[in-house]
Amino acid sequence: MNFKKTILITGGAGFIGSHVVRRFVARYPEYRIVNADKLTYAGNLENLADIEGRENYFFERTDIVDKKAIADLFAKYRFDGVIHLAAESHVDRSISGPDEFVQTNIIGTVNLLNAVRSQWGSDCTGKLFYHISTDEVFGSLSKEGYFTETTPYDPKSPYSASKASSDHLVRAYGHTYNIPVVVSNCSNNYGPNQFPEKLIPLAINNIKNQKPIPVYGKGENIRDWLYVEDHSSAIDLIFHKGKAGETYNIGGNNEWKNIDLIRLLCRIMDSKLDRLEGTSEKLITYVKDRPGHDQRYAIDSSKLQNELGWSPIPDFAKGLELTVDWYLRNTQWLERIISGDYEKYYDTMYSGR
Ligand code: NAD
Ligand code: DAU
Repeated sequence: MNFKKTILITGGAGFIGSHVVRRFVARYPEYRIVNADKLTYAGNLENLADIEGRENYFFERTDIVDKKAIADLFAKYRFDGVIHLAAESHVDRSISGPDEFVQTNIIGTVNLLNAVRSQWGSDCTGKLFYHISTDEVFGSLSKEGYFTETTPYDPKSPYSASKASSDHLVRAYGHTYNIPVVVSNCSNNYGPNQFPEKLIPLAINNIKNQKPIPVYGKGENIRDWLYVEDHSSAIDLIFHKGKAGETYNIGGNNEWKNIDLIRLLCRIMDSKLDRLEGTSEKLITYVKDRPGHDQRYAIDSSKLQNELGWSPIPDFAKGLELTVDWYLRNTQWLERIISGDYEKYYDTMYSGR
């Protein structure tokens, strides 16, 4: 088959990556979509079982830290565009073991940039390297204000420092070698397929199994939640309409204190599981805080909204309900995850709290 473009999506077997891969495979049959993923604990090909046989979809098990594997991948496919999502993504894991974050998030990104540089050379017409990043690079806000595209970087965890480093490298390669690059920084995502180490799916799983819901500190930290399909639609828009050299902030304008979010989730779960209202709230357990816990994230996404016309769709209660429904329907997906190494992870992370 003759494809108009070949696009590399890294980390496509993970949470956000799988939504992006599915969207691109379905919407752009004229593109050859190559998903390169190492399949770490967070990568799960089950997330993409429904598109496995599609003619424009290819999977390559690849470690982005492995230079030779990246060179071979680029030689095989000759990519026109890269959407780079592969990363170690969980803050708590970065606190207990930062090395992997330095390897994948920094070295892995440099390997991709070097491959692009050597393949695209001086003629980058029609090419784009799109780096997916996080709002955590901006650090932590107090009560007032929002992160904009010009907020100075001030990362506070090994995870956010490694992402900040990769953002700088992407922009530096763009500037120095004239590679067309775009970066977007997004707030907290939630939705189907998220690994249950992150707050919302972890709480859903615990509520379902009537286990304590661990809330760090006083539960007063604030996050700005965005439904994963909205992040995916923003990535699509930025990839096609974004301007090379630019940065776009993506966020839900949807700030919640952790404890209020958990209470809302408890109410939704009580109703879905036919439990008396108030039953799940009794599971809330305050535990030792995360070291260096960022207080508040809030994104100003007006540039993306005004310049490219993006807007998020479901309101939070609706998005949470869709998410809960997905987890209650996809019991096998969840069971397979929590029956593996997850139990060991959970004990290590939470038994001392
Ligand atoms: P995830 O942990 O669910 O998935 C990461 C994927 O990357 C997995 O499939 C994993 O197997 C793969 N991967 C890890 N190391 C790799 C390596 N060395 N080589 C190849 N593949 C590797 O992460 P996510 O939550 O889907 O996040 C995806 C991206 O979006 C990350 O870059 C993250 O920083 C960014 N981001 C996430 C959020 C969020 O709320 N989850 C918000 C903003 C930005
Ligand atoms: O802001 C974007 C970032 O959001 C992404 O870059 C990261 O990849 C993603 O993991 C997420 O980081 P957070 O640290 O904000 O997400 P997490 O789900 O781990 O935690 C959300 C909030 O809930 C945070 O304030 C810590 C708190 N928390 C988390 C867990 C896992 C708890 O209170 N209890 C928990 O058990």
